[in-house]
Amino acid sequence: MNALKLHPYPKALSGELEVPGDKSISHRSVIMGSIANGTTKVSHFLDGEDCMRTVQVFRSMGVSIEKKGSTLIIEGKGTATLKEPKEPIYFGNSGTTARLMLGLLAGLPFFTAVYGDPYLSNRPMDRVVTPLKEMDAVIDGRGNGSYVPLAIRGKKLKGIHYALPIKSAQVKSAVLLAGLHAEGDTIVSEKTTTRNHTENMLQAFNADITMDGMYTTITNKRSLQATDVYVPGDISSAAFFLVAASIVPGSRLRMKNVGLNQTRTGIIEVLKAMGAMIEITNQQSISGELLGDLTITSTELHGTVIEGDIIPRLIDEIPVIALLATQADGTTIIRNAEELRVKETDRIAAVVNVLSTLGANVESTTDGIIIYGKTNLTGGHISTYNDHRIAMMAVIASLVAQEEVILDDTSSITVSYPTFLKDLQRIMN
Ligand code: S3P
Repeated sequence: MNALKLHPYPKALSGELEVPGDKSISHRSVIMGSIANGTTKVSHFLDGEDCMRTVQVFRSMGVSIEKKGSTLIIEGKGTATLKEPKEPIYFGNSGTTARLMLGLLAGLPFFTAVYGDPYLSNRPMDRVVTPLKEMDAVIDGRGNGSYVPLAIRGKKLKGIHYALPIKSAQVKSAVLLAGLHAEGDTIVSEKTTTRNHTENMLQAFNADITMDGMYTTITNKRSLQATDVYVPGDISSAAFFLVAASIVPGSRLRMKNVGLNQTRTGIIEVLKAMGAMIEITNQQSISGELLGDLTITSTELHGTVIEGDIIPRLIDEIPVIALLATQADGTTIIRNAEELRVKETDRIAAVVNVLSTLGANVESTTDGIIIYGKTNLTGGHISTYNDHRIAMMAVIASLVAQEEVILDDTSSITVSYPTFLKDLQRIMN
């Protein structure tokens, strides 16, 4: 347990930051680099607990991955050289490692047993196991294969056309990775755009993949070729500071090299819709991903409605957006976000609990949250639910609280942003 007591902070935030690498892209860089032929150098890799789980998984299958600070050197020799791990594979808290690896492991010619921490053990895996079984995968485990621990008897798969029944990039990615070891075409179609980092990176590694609107097709015709990857700053991490600078009066912050892939920028649209002052400069594209600098200045905000197709484009930012809405005039309604119920924790319940403990006027619905602003936040004892994004949201909330905020445990922050508290210190004057 790592409790944290935060005092009221009556001053403005200012300065410049470079947030750590994107979590989703970091996971994918390890996966692609490990199954490609050749040496992949990954720069600005996120040195967080989740991404290191993915590194460990490939090391346990014999891949040499050297890490120097935030640079990885991966010696890929193709999937044929991956070895059957001697021990069960531990995914820790990482849903992305779990879902994506299940897709890959299902098509490899050996046996693996996989498990996770108590939180991951409660998260649904049938969403990937079901399509993988349609591809002939042999997977079994707890709850008839719905939860880890799971056992995978890897084998040659067959391509399918899978219409995603839920808006999940992890499910899409699992099926595409399985498609690398399937006979024939594997086609995934989605009704709502979800993050497309897997597709972008498969393309950068020369996979036989085509993206056509909402359809993505992959075959096993080409093996992956190593390429260097630069991981942009994680917009989901930048989100905490975007909100902080918006709500702490007098603040102005600049964040450099933040990932601006359109499938992830819902938070910027919401900030603008609420009246925030945000400027984007120095846009460029590296390794198939857009990035740029964000400058944000505090201002008066007003409520908005967040629903429909934008939800997957800001799903991980909803906890901190809810905090933002407590400092905006009027009502903010978030709906169609039922996926929040099966994240690291039930984030609808967690957000409502944390914010109402701090005196906000919020209520949960089955698929979202309603926030009645603007309220002055008081202070109090917060449970972070062992969820990194809830913990960081509560830390940002303390900046505008009038009394002490005491968090029960902040150790989960290392999952996605180990230097978060240090970075926050740098912009406090
Ligand atoms: C992720 C996809 C999203 C997101 C998660 C990371 C990914 O989950 O919430 O933090 O890297 O593909 P879903 O695919 O379950 O929506």
